[in-house]
Amino acid sequence: MSDTISFDNTVTELNDGVVEEIHSIEDIDAASDFELKHTPALEVIEGAHGQTIKATIGLKGIAHPQTEEHHIAWIRAFDGAEPLGTVNFGPTETPVAEFEVKRASNQIIVQALCNLHGLWEARV
Ligand SMILES: [Fe+2]
Repeated sequence: MSDTISFDNTVTELNDGVVEEIHSIEDIDAASDFELKHTPALEVIEGAHGQTIKATIGLKGIAHPQTEEHHIAWIRAFDGAEPLGTVNFGPTETPVAEFEVKRASNQIIVQALCNLHGLWEARV
């Protein structure tokens, strides 16, 4: 899994050379259910040694399917340009990931890949 990321907010290149368009929601109140169910929901957990970002998939309680045919393949995170890791999921695994954050930058970027509908991003 590549951690290459572009910062024009439009595309990123994955490790297999595939360039994925990055989808994100500008206005949650105007978002469709299709957009809501693909977008990472981010929770910032304050700990004794820093923050943890907990990512689940789907906003407003709209869960993404997790089946062989249609599933979230992975979630990855960046602290600015620094990769925080990638968590891969099988078709029967619940796509939940936690990333420890040093907060070297003020921009945490979390991306999730749907095997059918591409790359979805949220920032905190
Ligand atoms: Fe999907």
